[in-house]
Amino acid sequence: MRRSYEELRKLASDFNQEHVFQYWDGLNPNEKEQLLNDVSKINFARVNDLISGKGNISSPEIDLTKIEAPPVYLPQPTAKQVNLYKEAIARGRQLLSENKVATMVVAGGQGTRLGFDAPKGTLPTSPIKNKTLFMLFAENIRAICNRYACRLPWYIMTSDATDEPTREYFEANDYLGLNPDDVHFFKQGVMPAVDDTGRILLSEKHRIALSPNGHGGSLTALKECDILDDLSKRGIEVLSYFQVDNPLVSPADPLFIGLHSLSESQMSSIAVPKADDLERVGNFVQIDGKIQIIEYSDLPDELAHAKNPDGSRMLNSGSIAIHLICPKFVGELTGDGKLELPWHIARKKVPYVDPQTGKSVDPEQPNARKFEMFIFDAIPLATKSIILEQPRLHCFSPVKNAEGIDSLETAQRDMILRSMEWLEKCGVKCPKTKDGLPAAKVEISPLKAIDAEQLKESLQTPPVIKPGDSVYID
Ligand code: UD1
Repeated sequence: MRRSYEELRKLASDFNQEHVFQYWDGLNPNEKEQLLNDVSKINFARVNDLISGKGNISSPEIDLTKIEAPPVYLPQPTAKQVNLYKEAIARGRQLLSENKVATMVVAGGQGTRLGFDAPKGTLPTSPIKNKTLFMLFAENIRAICNRYACRLPWYIMTSDATDEPTREYFEANDYLGLNPDDVHFFKQGVMPAVDDTGRILLSEKHRIALSPNGHGGSLTALKECDILDDLSKRGIEVLSYFQVDNPLVSPADPLFIGLHSLSESQMSSIAVPKADDLERVGNFVQIDGKIQIIEYSDLPDELAHAKNPDGSRMLNSGSIAIHLICPKFVGELTGDGKLELPWHIARKKVPYVDPQTGKSVDPEQPNARKFEMFIFDAIPLATKSIILEQPRLHCFSPVKNAEGIDSLETAQRDMILRSMEWLEKCGVKCPKTKDGLPAAKVEISPLKAIDAEQLKESLQTPPVIKPGDSVYID
């Protein structure tokens, strides 16, 4: 039950944040209710620790001498690994067919860079049919369920901003052909923005400037929203985690699942070779024998540019934010309710109500600190963790920006290129420009095939594709 006005006011005052009630007397009953709701979501003790520098704050300081490239399983096995990879694929398929795998997407972000107002999962993305990201994921999940005669429950993490429209979208679209019993929404927590003096900001006189607590908040949300209980009831051993922005993701890859399971890893990751030294992705490193990720913004330039004796890039494994996580591991981390991944502090422009004038201000310069946890900070907490490298076109082309790199345009290009690669493996000639770019549009329904092998089995009449054509294969 929510705490009363008196209790919340006392709490705020105990932590020198009583000003959040500064406009209380002038608020109408609805506004009062909203403010109380917002205030009840604040963990004042945690905010206090963070602003006073006592909390678990992520430190970008790195001992450069300790950093090594991590061990990585390559897409193709070495001669010694051939049997291991075969065994892994068999184990992955077995876990799938025994209903021991579930998927989870983090879809709580506000998509600010893309400038799309609705939840990003509802963005029309596929090159011909304009399927949304959620549709593409749902069709992949359905295809996996058909292939392995299994159930693959899907957990969708939303935030205050994306929860309602995401649920409405699924309702309005018949759960995209999935069994509603296997689709679960859960909402992540929030953190307030604070100004440079540590005061919590009001976004309106009756609203706190709250924002999602980062995708690392998914671990606590799994516990708090009883998803861990649901996973345990269903006997789920592997939770496959991905981000909402990546249309090329495979929600459950048998090789990856099998390697994770055979190596008794608690949290595993997919990596792709970096496109360039400074690519804006997380970098896999190993420190004191533990795998971890250093975000590009925290990686010193000298390390980003460091080369091996043969001239290759020293830190070449980029994170595409695809992980396999053992629910038991999440249970252990969140068991006493005390899990705190390190908090990352970012300076941002946050609109606020000026406490002196009572007027709304839309700042031109960053004026506030926001607090977020990152999922990948859980990797070094695992007793065992592995990385599988995959070819980029196989699994990664995110939609993050309105134009340029990692935009809808590049994602559609890569979706077409991947379809062409599969078709070429089936002997179909695909028109390309002299720079290797697609000269036609091709889209393959995930329900037809989720990889080249399946396409080979299911393609009865190979299409003829001419420059300028749009060919949808279903
Ligand atoms: C992220 C990773 C980066 C990785 C890249 C791959 C971070 C800090 N960096 O970058 O290492 O190489 O993806 O594409 O994460 N989200 C929530 N709740 C939140 C915040 C984010 O659900 O509170 C979700 C978003 O909806 C999205 C995903 O997390 O699905 C990524 O968030 P975003 O902030 O866009 O990360 P990137 O900076 O793109």
